[in-house]
Amino acid sequence: MIEIEWCGQLSHVIAQGRCALQQCAAVCLIMITATGCIPTTSPQCYKNSTGPSEDFTCRWEDRNIEQNTMYTLYIFEGKTFVLQEKTNQKEKYLCLEQLGTIYKNMEIWVQRQVGNLTCNSTKNSVIFECLAKYSKPQITGMTRSDGILNLTLSKPKDNKSVIYVIRWREIGAEWQNETFETEESTFQDFYTLRLQKQAVYQVQLMRQSKPLLPACESQQALWSDWSIMVDVPIEIRLPPKVHWKETQNTQSRDVHLMWDAPPAEESVGGVTYILNMSHWPCHKPKTLKAVNRTFNTSITFSEAWVSIIARNQVGSSPPQLITIPAVKHLNHCPKHQGNSNKIEKTCLEWYKLEDGETRPQAVNTSRKKMVNDIENEVENFVRHYYFLHIRKSGTYQTVAMCPFYSQEGVPSKGPDNVLFFNVTHESAVVSWLSIPVENQRGFLQQYLIWISGQENTTHHRLPTNETSFLIKNLHPGASYTVSIAGRTNAGEGPNSTANFETPSIRTALSQQDQTILSVCVLGLLCTLICSVVFRRFRSKLLPAVPSPVIPATKSIFRHDESLSQQTEEVHEVVLLQLQEHNKQPQNTTPEQSTLLQDFGLVIFEEEDEEDEEGVTDLSSMKSCCYPNPSYRGQMLHMSDPIHTTEIIFKENDTESTYRNGMFFDTRVVECDETSF
Ligand SMILES: *[C@@H]1O[C@H](CO)[C@@H](O)[C@H](O)[C@H]1NC(C)=O
Ligand SMILES: *[C@@H]1O[C@H](CO)[C@@H](O)[C@H](O)[C@H]1NC(C)=O
Ligand SMILES: *[C@@H]1O[C@H](CO)[C@@H](O)[C@H](O)[C@H]1NC(C)=O
Ligand SMILES: *[C@@H]1O[C@H](CO)[C@@H](O)[C@H](O)[C@H]1NC(C)=O
Ligand SMILES: *[C@@H]1O[C@H](CO)[C@@H](O)[C@H](O)[C@H]1NC(C)=O
Ligand SMILES: *[C@@H]1O[C@H](CO)[C@@H](O)[C@H](O)[C@H]1NC(C)=O
Ligand SMILES: *[C@@H]1O[C@H](CO)[C@@H](O)[C@H](O)[C@H]1NC(C)=O
Ligand SMILES: *[C@@H]1O[C@H](CO)[C@@H](O)[C@H](O)[C@H]1NC(C)=O
Ligand SMILES: *[C@@H]1O[C@H](CO)[C@@H](O)[C@H](O)[C@H]1NC(C)=O
Ligand SMILES: *[C@@H]1O[C@H](CO)[C@@H](O)[C@H](O)[C@H]1NC(C)=O
Ligand SMILES: *[C@@H]1O[C@H](CO)[C@@H](O)[C@H](O)[C@H]1NC(C)=O
Ligand SMILES: *[C@@H]1O[C@H](CO)[C@@H](O)[C@H](O)[C@H]1NC(C)=O
Repeated sequence: MIEIEWCGQLSHVIAQGRCALQQCAAVCLIMITATGCIPTTSPQCYKNSTGPSEDFTCRWEDRNIEQNTMYTLYIFEGKTFVLQEKTNQKEKYLCLEQLGTIYKNMEIWVQRQVGNLTCNSTKNSVIFECLAKYSKPQITGMTRSDGILNLTLSKPKDNKSVIYVIRWREIGAEWQNETFETEESTFQDFYTLRLQKQAVYQVQLMRQSKPLLPACESQQALWSDWSIMVDVPIEIRLPPKVHWKETQNTQSRDVHLMWDAPPAEESVGGVTYILNMSHWPCHKPKTLKAVNRTFNTSITFSEAWVSIIARNQVGSSPPQLITIPAVKHLNHCPKHQGNSNKIEKTCLEWYKLEDGETRPQAVNTSRKKMVNDIENEVENFVRHYYFLHIRKSGTYQTVAMCPFYSQEGVPSKGPDNVLFFNVTHESAVVSWLSIPVENQRGFLQQYLIWISGQENTTHHRLPTNETSFLIKNLHPGASYTVSIAGRTNAGEGPNSTANFETPSIRTALSQQDQTILSVCVLGLLCTLICSVVFRRFRSKLLPAVPSPVIPATKSIFRHDESLSQQTEEVHEVVLLQLQEHNKQPQNTTPEQSTLLQDFGLVIFEEEDEEDEEGVTDLSSMKSCCYPNPSYRGQMLHMSDPIHTTEIIFKENDTESTYRNGMFFDTRVVECDETSF
């Protein structure tokens, strides 16, 4: 009879590949041509659970589409008809009473009648009591983790222990199945399935009752229908990645949240998002469900948070917590907004703001209190901050926010790090670190500065955003004491005190000036002599002038090392150099040598004197003296005989080295150029 059913669903059946086209068509053809009446399937009768007082339903299939078909359901027991019911439906509801006994074997069949054409279905022999067919199972919950899938299933109506078949497959693969029995008298049926960790699955179940009577075992029990096929994604491992931006309005902020979907294999079967959010500080957080991956809301100026969880068929991701910080805390109240009118739906929020920045974990809120009420409640001398929120036509707004003190005190300490910079004989800069908010203990209004010295005290007031001050009109060589204190409404706090001394004008300047002056004079002198000497020297000697080169770095390195040897070695150097000149085949006149020698001696005697006095500052020489600062070093360098020879061979080097290494030549060239 199954074949007939197939005829009606031919295309469907073929599509499912349950039989080949020719086979199916042949069966249909035989059936239809053999008789004028195609019988229905044999009726299937069952009750919805194993309960003893359940009624029965009988159902059958008829693939004919003729009108006015009448069916007669026959139930025959022993020698008599128990029941003979006519209906035009393809099912019949049977009351328990109609059946009499349900523990005996009975024969059931359906006669189909169109006009005076009748045919009977095959007969089925059943014991009614055995015929319990459960509703199809329902998966009420799935959790998956580490390849383990826990399924919870709705219990059958009678809460009995039942037999399940579960089948599962990776998409596109073969079904696998397993049979299991559940416990009696539990709240839910439960099953644990082992799966591959990273694959998406499909799962289906059906169930049947366990045999109610020994006689039932011979009979094939009725399976429920397959449950709806469900897709089993893999668990969502990461919290959703959330992007948000806020736009600030005059009294509220619009927040736009956006987040990314989990990867495809985690999204199978659909993902929903659970948002938990605090946007109205006086209420518990609100829980919202979102299908879309965007969410817009409006929040107050106070800190708000949103936690987002992605939930799929088998579980939830870890939550992603987004904290939207409060707008920047103000340092001062624009104007005191201790508004006492009670507006509808207000929310006052306040907390300690000890350092002026950090909001504590716990904040106070009240729907009844107003600013005036809390102003005297909070701890004295500690900065607090309040927000006054209102709810207006469904949006949340902040109408006021301010720092406040219950009572102001004087600062607990003066500014730290009082330091002096750029101290000259008549001025100095004093700088300090502003007093931290914790230590202000009130609204800092001014810094007070006292400068005492020379039996005179001056006093200044500075705005609190300043952290340095230029002290003028000082006396040279005097010592001063500077005291700085912060002032609040309650008065001035303790002083931070520091001293400094101005340098004495005469000693300091005269020494420096002397040095600079003498060095400059020397420089000038040497330039003059050098230019004179070399103009002569050059006119005779120019083409053959050797241009020894000493690596600049070496010269500088030696510069400091061997200062003490100067006096002696200088002579050698100069002499050596002169010797080199003399070695040249061309004419080096004795005059020139003498002049050079004199020149070298003059310079170094002068410098040595200064060095011995310990006055000459080399750096000041660098800045002013005409000769190259590394001059002495080079001269010493040349005293080394090995280096001297090297000098001669390394004639052609780069220009820069040339300049540094051979002071005399360079200067001469420049002198010449200028003199033309
Ligand atoms: C069994 O359940 C089905 C569907 O839930 C219902 O249509 C039918 O009438 C029920 N049968 C009995 C005998 O209660
Ligand atoms: C019953 O069948 C006969 C032939 O088998 C036919 O002549 C007659 O008209 C049918 N009666 C009805 C009521 O259709
Ligand atoms: C169908 O069954 C009924 C009842 O047993 C019988 O009267 C009838 O003749 C049968 N019809 C056919 C076509 O066998
Ligand atoms: C599945 O159930 C077992 C037993 O109740 C439990 O130990 C396990 O943690 C559960 N696994 C998941 C992923 O829920
Ligand atoms: C089955 O269990 C549920 C809940 O445990 C209960 O409400 C219901 O009455 C029970 N049904 C039967 C037939 O025991
Ligand atoms: C379960 O699988 C076996 C083979 O593994 C198969 O023969 C049987 O028909 C399957 N049962 C169901 C209910 O799919
Ligand atoms: C959000 O979801 C609704 C339906 O719930 C849909 O009409 C709308 O287009 C979605 N918006 C976005 C941005 O996906
Ligand atoms: C000291 O003077 C220099 C140069 O005039 C200036 O750049 C610097 O800021 C001054 N330091 C302070 C602390 O005022
Ligand atoms: C004290 O200092 C102020 C400002 O520098 C100056 O005008 C005044 O003459 C000084 N008084 C004495 C006694 O030095
Ligand atoms: C301090 O504030 C005043 C006025 O608001 C401003 O003119 C001044 O430049 C500020 N000083 C500093 C160092 O920021
Ligand atoms: C700070 O120092 C000044 C000057 O020395 C003095 O007048 C003032 O009283 C001091 N303030 C405190 C709080 O000691
Ligand atoms: C050195 O310089 C001279 C002329 O200045 C040039 O003729 C000679 O080729 C150069 N030698 C080297 C090695 O560069």
